[in-house]
Amino acid sequence: MVSRSGIQPPIVHNLVTPYYLRHHRVIDPSPKVILDAGCGTGYKALALAIANPGAHIVGVDLSEKSVELAQQRLQYYNLENCEFHPLLIEDLPQLGMRFDYINCDEVLYLLPDPLMGLKAIRSVLSPQGILRINLHSSLQRSPFYRAQSLFGMLDCSTNPKTWQWN
Ligand SMILES: C[S@@+](CC[C@H](N)C(=O)[O-])C[C@H]1O[C@@H](n2cnc3c(N)ncnc32)[C@H](O)[C@@H]1O
Repeated sequence: MVSRSGIQPPIVHNLVTPYYLRHHRVIDPSPKVILDAGCGTGYKALALAIANPGAHIVGVDLSEKSVELAQQRLQYYNLENCEFHPLLIEDLPQLGMRFDYINCDEVLYLLPDPLMGLKAIRSVLSPQGILRINLHSSLQRSPFYRAQSLFGMLDCSTNPKTWQWN
């Protein structure tokens, strides 16, 4: 099935399946409010909007520029039922909103205190709500650690600001 935007809906971001697995009933995603926590430039927010037609999408990210781009990305696909805020995950309660579904991809492990971030996310989840969160385990990160130590052995900095492009 292709959505009205012409993009293949990403099944992994569809709410109907996790709700069915959890509550044994098929829901209509259209009245649902979905948060993409740490949305970056909105790639996953777009996926959430397409996979859940009619749902209200809210994205937050610490980067003001990313949030602007996320808004533009969804507007480009005529997906108007969305709002984006430059906000720390830790400050989510300030939004004064509750969410039926919270997606948090590739973010939590970046926080100085991931547990505090998780608690903030949990505090804005509605009682029947579902969280979709991932972390990189140290095993998954090991190739990056190995690359960092190789760069160190080669006396190369891993700080991109010091790289020179010829
Ligand atoms: C690896 S990107 C993932 C972006 C997006 N979730 C995705 O999967 O495409 C990590 C994002 O988390 C944001 N971020 C990091 N710490 C954050 C925080 N404390 N609060 C909100 N956003 C944060 C960064 O600005 C960045 O956009």
